[in-house]
Amino acid sequence: MSQQSDHFKKLVAHCKEYGFIYQSSEVYDGLAAVYDYGPYGSELKNNLKQYWWKSMVQMHDNIVGIDAAIFMHPKTWKASGHVDAFNDPLIDNKDTKRRYRADQLIEGFVEKIEAKIEKDVAKAKKRFKENFDEAKYRAESPKLQGYKENIKTIMDRFTSAMKAEDMVELKAIIDDYEIADPESGSRNWTDVRMFNLMFSTQLGNIAGEEGKLYLRPETAQGIFVNFLNVQKTTRQKVPFGIAQIGKAFRNEIVARQFIFRMREFEQMEMQFFVQPGEEMKWYEYWKEARMKWHLALGHPAEKLRYHDHDNLAHYANAALDIEFEFPFGFRELEGIHSRTDFDLTEHQKLSGKKMQYFDPQRNENYVPYVVETSIGCDRMFLATMSHALRTEQVPGQDDPKNTRDVLKLHPALAPIKVAVLPLKRNEERIVKAAKAIYKRLSLSFNCQYDDTGSIGKLYRRQDAIGTPYCVTVDFEHLDDGTVTIRERDSLEQQRVSIDELEKIVAERVDMKQLLAKV
Ligand code: GAP
Repeated sequence: MSQQSDHFKKLVAHCKEYGFIYQSSEVYDGLAAVYDYGPYGSELKNNLKQYWWKSMVQMHDNIVGIDAAIFMHPKTWKASGHVDAFNDPLIDNKDTKRRYRADQLIEGFVEKIEAKIEKDVAKAKKRFKENFDEAKYRAESPKLQGYKENIKTIMDRFTSAMKAEDMVELKAIIDDYEIADPESGSRNWTDVRMFNLMFSTQLGNIAGEEGKLYLRPETAQGIFVNFLNVQKTTRQKVPFGIAQIGKAFRNEIVARQFIFRMREFEQMEMQFFVQPGEEMKWYEYWKEARMKWHLALGHPAEKLRYHDHDNLAHYANAALDIEFEFPFGFRELEGIHSRTDFDLTEHQKLSGKKMQYFDPQRNENYVPYVVETSIGCDRMFLATMSHALRTEQVPGQDDPKNTRDVLKLHPALAPIKVAVLPLKRNEERIVKAAKAIYKRLSLSFNCQYDDTGSIGKLYRRQDAIGTPYCVTVDFEHLDDGTVTIRERDSLEQQRVSIDELEKIVAERVDMKQLLAKV
């Protein structure tokens, strides 16, 4: 097994063992691609949301926040294009009854040919050693040329089929290249058909199509339909933004990578309304600003990259992803989209209500253009956890077997900021003092009091949930009121008074440490 998938398995197990994430309805064997956040998971998720919200709303006087309802008038989704165009091509394997996305099967097949090219180059490199001219070999090897031509033919057919929504052609590609079920190798496929990803439900007192409601597949539309309400009530002037954090729902066909692709998830979206013609300037601005936000967390630059979209969504004139290197490779973490005036114009058409803004400087009315930043909260959680979780040799210990699992979260994100641990759990005076310290600190921070094991075990547990500070209370405290504070990453220990302790912790765990870098 590769190191990457080892790390991913460990991460999933760690999330469950330490109360970060549980499978939804586990007692009934779970519900696929739906997850519950446990005590530490919900704290971490809240901290991530706070980091996003503060950097957007608190730190911009021209961005305001809203909290729109999940249910919206059904016409919303007609106007946005989701009823007609929010589809994935679906295919079933008749033998295994497993369901796949036809586009992903074809892309997976192409990736395999690309891997063959890399394998061949690596073999040639080994064979010819220092005489090897890699660029020449890549350009001239007949075998490699064959692979490349194959890829080009498949991708040309695939791109046109996707553009034309030609399901028959997608099936023909799968048949022509004998693409098999990755799990079983079976090639016994159904036809390909379009599948709409929106979940629907029924309004209680109205039967039939008229009462059909959708669970929102993106939070953005709640912002678009409130655009004028917000602009008028807050007297914002273009350019200005509206931010929102909330649940979104998609009936994903393939959802097999833990919380990466879920059927119920949370988005943090911001729509920035600009003058028509200025959208590319703001697109560049938000592209830079959002990358800075990610880097401020301490994620190494080589784990993050931009990926420009080749095929633009129906509403966009420019789009890119910020990708993160998850344990299973680089994948989309956040989308930056220049959405033109598509959404506001469509809502204007279907509702019959004006969505125009009067620009006092230009003395004219127009429908603003929109640049959107859209990040999945759960994906951000997964990225943060996968970077933070390390198995390392205990600092200062020579024995390589002496390892610990430690969650190196930024202190501002850590679920618990301070753990208060009595050095002797049978010594009443120490326990009483430790509980009093816990009570005092919990006025300011999320704290934990723990006396359920030896001090070594308690430290390991706090390392595993990412607690930046452990405070031990011992006999010396009874004499002089000091405690020992241990820092999670360096394991350095300091003897300090309680007042000093509060100051040290307050400074390090304050969200402003992060926000100052944004
Ligand atoms: N309003 C634009 C929009 O929704 P998107 O690229 O479809 O764009 C934005 O989604 C972000 O939402 C993605 O970058 C991803 O982080 C997150 N996301 C999308 N589908 C998801 C899913 N099924 N599970 C978890 N997160 C998802």
